[in-house]
Amino acid sequence: MSDLVTLRRDGNVGVVTVDNPPVNAIKTAVRVGLIAKLGEAKADPDVAAVVLACAGRTFMAGADISEFGKPMQGPATVDVIAAVEQMGKPVVAALHGTPLGGGLEIALGCHLRLAAPGTRLGQPEIKIGTIPGAGGTQRLPRLVGLEKAMAMILTGDPITAQDALAHGLVDEIVDGDVTAAAVVFAKKVVAEQRPLVLARDRNEKLANVDRAKFDELAAGYLKRGKGLLAPMAAIESLRNALDLPIDDALRREWTLFLGLLGSEQAKSLRHIFFAEREAAKIAGIPADTRPREIRRAAVIGAGTMGGGIAMCFANVGLPVTVVEMSAEALGRGLDTVARNYRSTAARGGLKPEEAERRIGLITGTTDMGGIADADIVIEAVFETMDVKRQVFAALDKLAGADALLATNTSYLDVNVIARATARPQRVVGMHFFSPANLMRALEVVRGAETAPDVLATAVAIGRRIGKAPAVVGVCHGFVGNRIQRLRTVEAERVLIEGALPQEVDAAMTEFGFPMGPLAAGDLAGLDISWSMRKAQGLTAEIADALCERGRYGQKTGKGFYRYEPGSRAPKPDPEVEQLIVATSARLGVTRRSFDKKEIVERLLFPVINEGARVLDEGIAARPGDIDVIWVYGYAFPAWRGGIMHWADTLGLAYVRDRLIEFAARTGDERHKPAPLLTRLAAEGKGFAAS
Ligand code: COA
Repeated sequence: MSDLVTLRRDGNVGVVTVDNPPVNAIKTAVRVGLIAKLGEAKADPDVAAVVLACAGRTFMAGADISEFGKPMQGPATVDVIAAVEQMGKPVVAALHGTPLGGGLEIALGCHLRLAAPGTRLGQPEIKIGTIPGAGGTQRLPRLVGLEKAMAMILTGDPITAQDALAHGLVDEIVDGDVTAAAVVFAKKVVAEQRPLVLARDRNEKLANVDRAKFDELAAGYLKRGKGLLAPMAAIESLRNALDLPIDDALRREWTLFLGLLGSEQAKSLRHIFFAEREAAKIAGIPADTRPREIRRAAVIGAGTMGGGIAMCFANVGLPVTVVEMSAEALGRGLDTVARNYRSTAARGGLKPEEAERRIGLITGTTDMGGIADADIVIEAVFETMDVKRQVFAALDKLAGADALLATNTSYLDVNVIARATARPQRVVGMHFFSPANLMRALEVVRGAETAPDVLATAVAIGRRIGKAPAVVGVCHGFVGNRIQRLRTVEAERVLIEGALPQEVDAAMTEFGFPMGPLAAGDLAGLDISWSMRKAQGLTAEIADALCERGRYGQKTGKGFYRYEPGSRAPKPDPEVEQLIVATSARLGVTRRSFDKKEIVERLLFPVINEGARVLDEGIAARPGDIDVIWVYGYAFPAWRGGIMHWADTLGLAYVRDRLIEFAARTGDERHKPAPLLTRLAAEGKGFAAS
């Protein structure tokens, strides 16, 4: 047998240790090893108690997700938990890192749980389209109460060790080596002959549950997870904790879990999980390329983007200098950042002292020399080539020799910007999405001369600040905005051909976007894309006409919709309808009705097609990279796996055939199926096989 699981003795305590780097995922061999070693510990008369611990950076972080979707082999996690519960001797879990999913469920099977201070505990299954399948929906509420268990299982977000202690999920937080502390603790438990109590037998927290409150909370979670299968199953299973004997409820949980595992939603979410991690692997750089350490950052520009980017660094404890031209603009920018943090604290999202600590990490200056000791400088100034080049020429003179110089441009040619310096190899694009402190997408733009270590550093720091970076090549709008443009154009066309804004948006929200593209345009400000179009000599019949009438979106109370004063709720506007109908008439278009499916396909299939071109040109290395960018930057529903994965689920031949129809109708060359799409469709393959 392998050394994935070992048993050693420390006095009268048997220490069972899992060592399956990097995250001690509970793959088949781990389950087999655990059952074997727990069995040995049980049989050994000299072992009076057991500590269950893990080597490396974390306690078991859950099932091995790569085994999902394959036939189950060997014992299941429930069998491991049965072995723990039937030990007949105290079992203490020694938790550190991220005990998640099945890892937490095994810990829930133990009699007692100790945690290291920074431990984060959670049931993240909902994020991959399933529910805890090894008792999480039954044992967790018995320990922490139904409401807390609901929050953990329905959001999937982990909680801190302190929170876990306060809710009875862990028994103690211990400093120093958690395994050693657990051994001492286990010896004490034996010496004191503490009674063995299992979570499954502790019903006191479920005794007086307020049913009406449960129903109300459940309705809220279901509303948020509209269209998703896993939240429904999670609620059902949590309700069973109240209504069924635990063994029946556990069997039902397992059935629900298995049913979800094979669902398209779960497959899509697993795809995105792995695509995000795959995207962080940079194609075509030497395998031994190491990212440089970032200890200090600088951001040029204290506008919305600059401020948001500065927050990303402060959020992970890195000091950051913000440089602005005028003291006034700097003050405004820093005030906004401070206000953001304080309002998060006021809403309970952050401890007030933590908010102040982060504010304190951000310092401002009007002296460009303030960047001298920064390891990374991110430029977030006005989106004009001349301005960017001036900034980079200045950075070149002032930045440290090894500093990484990044531009946050969303469209411009990174190579031209890089050539404003004498060190283009140290220049890279880092395209953040707005609001930069919240959106997880990050396009790392590889210039013609960008050095491998610069790319690796940009990706590594992106991961560190919580983003989902993907490396892209230089072209107008890179991947995300380049392919999005097709959707914008198509939304206009569909309006002119017969749909109304509220129909377009309803089709897209029903598909799974949190907001329709037209309402999103109103929110962002229609004038911004208008000025960009003008700069590029482009037009958009409807959107231009709206802007000409001063309808810039929410900020003017009118855009594609109208807005009551102080309200953000879009209301259909007869004036806009008239304008659209008149435009159709002027262009000689006979209006017709659209159903939702056609709207979705018209808006998104051209995006897929452009995605195929982006792949063909090598602008994106993998279809999964495009998926990651669109899920985290454009709110494409993660449960559909990203735009290219979704295309694969539909079948590329279908997408190709519809594009041919669209091309015939619109006469748009870009609707003609791209060569890669055509080839894969003919071969009966998906992008995943490209
Ligand atoms: N199954 C299989 N592989 C996993 C895994 C899992 N549950 N969790 C992580 N990995 C892999 C990742 O794919 C990655 O592989 P790679 O290095 O080949 O790309 C590696 O482990 C490290 O993971 P990463 O996410 O890059 O590390 P991190 O330190 O940023 O985060 C976790 C660690 C555990 C917090 C994070 O990986 C995570 O959330 N994992 C999923 C946990 C989960 O959902 N468990 C329940 C499953 S039901």
